Amino acid sequence: MDSMEELSLGARWAGLAFFAFSMCVTALGVILLVVRRWPWCGCHVCRAYLTGSWRKEFTNLGDWYADLLRRSPTGTVHVHVLGCTVTANPANVEYMLKTRFENFPKGKPFAEILGDLLGGGIFNVDGDAWRHQRKMASLELGSVAVRSYAYKIIAGEVTSRLMPVLADAADSGKVLDLQDVFRRFAFDTICKISFGLDPGCLDKEMPVSELADAFDAASRLSAMRGAAASPLMWRMKRFLNVGSERELRKAIRIVDQLAAAMIRERQKLGVGNSLDLLSRFMASTGAGGEDDDKFLRDIVVSFLLAGRDTVSSALTTLFMLLSRHGDVAAAMRAEVAAGGGVTSYEKLKRMHYTHAVLYENMRLFPPVQFDSKFCAAADVLPDGTYVAGGERVMYHPYAMGRMPRIWGADFAAFTPERWLTGGPDASFAPANLYKFPVFQAGLRVCLGKELAITEMKAVAVAVVKAFDIEVVGDNGRSGGAPRFVPGLTASVSGGLPVRVKRVKS
Ligand code: HEM
Repeated sequence: MDSMEELSLGARWAGLAFFAFSMCVTALGVILLVVRRWPWCGCHVCRAYLTGSWRKEFTNLGDWYADLLRRSPTGTVHVHVLGCTVTANPANVEYMLKTRFENFPKGKPFAEILGDLLGGGIFNVDGDAWRHQRKMASLELGSVAVRSYAYKIIAGEVTSRLMPVLADAADSGKVLDLQDVFRRFAFDTICKISFGLDPGCLDKEMPVSELADAFDAASRLSAMRGAAASPLMWRMKRFLNVGSERELRKAIRIVDQLAAAMIRERQKLGVGNSLDLLSRFMASTGAGGEDDDKFLRDIVVSFLLAGRDTVSSALTTLFMLLSRHGDVAAAMRAEVAAGGGVTSYEKLKRMHYTHAVLYENMRLFPPVQFDSKFCAAADVLPDGTYVAGGERVMYHPYAMGRMPRIWGADFAAFTPERWLTGGPDASFAPANLYKFPVFQAGLRVCLGKELAITEMKAVAVAVVKAFDIEVVGDNGRSGGAPRFVPGLTASVSGGLPVRVKRVKS
C-alpha cells in the first residue's frame, strides 16, 4: 500500500468515525429532547390528567381544575406533565397581567399553536407588533363613529334576522338549537362590523357558510394542539401532513381564500367613508397594496375569532340559566317595562339589573374558560409559587368563578344581586378585575368588551321581552354542569335545543 492509499484509507476512517460520532450526538439530543418533553410523572394530578380518570367524577376538565384549586391552600396547582402552573388566585393574576406583564407574554409556544390560523394578528403577538395593533385597534373601537355604526348593525340584525327566526319557531312549535342561532347571529354581526360584508348565516333558510364552518374547524383543531400533553405529537403530524393536522391545513386554506376574497372586495369598493374595521385599518395605515394583505388578513381573522364565539357562548349559557330561573327573566322584563319598553343605546346602558345578569352568567360560564401565559424568566408568584423560566402559567376564570374564597359560600348559586348595590334602584357594582378576569385584565384587557356588552344586552332585552325560552332535554337543565366541547371558546356539547313561546302580555 503506497502512502497515498494509506492517506485516503485514513481519511475514510476519520470520516466514518466523525459520521458515527455525529449520529451518536444527534441520537443523544433526540433522547434528551424526548425525555425533557415527553410526559412522565406519577403524581395523582398528572396521572388523572394523562389517564382521563378525572372524568369519573367531573363533567368538564374545568370542573376538575376548579375542585383542585378549591382544595389548594394557595389557589394554585402545578400540572407537571404539561409544565403548567394553574392558578385561581387573584393576586397571581394581577401580578401576571399587570405588575410583571413583560415577564408573562403569550410566548413562542402559544404563538406556534395558533400561528397557522392567526398569523401575526393581535391575539398572537407580543412586543412591538402587539403594541402597534393594540394602539390602532383601540383607537378605532373607542371612536364614537365606530361604536354607533356597530350599534346600528347589532340592532338591525336583532330586528331583521334574530327575532323573525325566533317568532317562526314560536309559531311552528319546532325545537331550535339556540346555540347555533346565536353563532350565526354573532358571525353575521362581527363580519359586518369587521369587513362591512354580510355572510347571511342567519337568513331564514339557515344556509351553510363555508367560512363559518372552516373557522369552526380551524379553531377546534388549533385548540387540540394546546391540549396535547406533548407538542411533539402535533408537530410530527403537521410535518407528515396527516390526521387532524391535515384537516387543520385544509380549514386554514379555506379561511385564507375567503379572507383574501373579502379584502379584495373591500379594496375594489374603496374605503371611502366606510366605518367597518377593515376599511378603518386600511385608511389609518395606508394599507391597500398586495404586500399589506397578509397583515390585514391576520388582524381581521383575530377579530372574527374574538367577536364571534365569545358572544354566542355567553348568550347560550345566559338563556340556559334564564330557562331555569324564571324569576330573573321576569325581573329583566320589569326593568325593560320601567324604561318605557323601547330600547336604545342609551337606554341599554342604564339597565343595571340586566347588566348584573350578564356578569353573573359570565362568572359561572366565562366564554374563555382559561388563558395561558409564558413565564419568560424564572419568577415567584405572590402566593409563593415558583415558576421556572419557559413554563406556562394558566389563570382560570371558570375555576375562579367557583371559588368560595372569592364569591362566598353561595358561589354555585346564580344570584345577579351580588353585582348590585343600593336597594331598589340598585346600580351595577363591578368586581375587582383580577377576581373576574373574564375579559382578561391589565394591559391586554379585551378591546371589544363594551361592544360585546352592548351586543349581548341588545339580544337579551329583545328576546326576554318577547319570548320565554325553555330548554328541551337535560343538557344544562338538570342543575348539573353542562358539558362543554374543548376549544378556544366554550361551546355546549350537543347545542342548546329550546322551545320558544311568546310572552303573554
Ligand atoms: C363576551 C364577549 C367577549 C369576551 C368574554 C372576551 C374575552 C376576551 C379575552 C379573555 C381576551 C384575552 C385573550 C388573550 O389574550 O388570550 C380578549 C382579547 C381581545 N378581545 Fe375580547 N372578548 C369578547 C368579545 C370581544 C369582541 C366582540 C371583540 C371585537 C369586536 C373583542 C376583541 C378583542 C381583542 C381585539 C382582543 C385582543 C386584545 C389584546 O391582545 O391586546 N372581544 N377578549
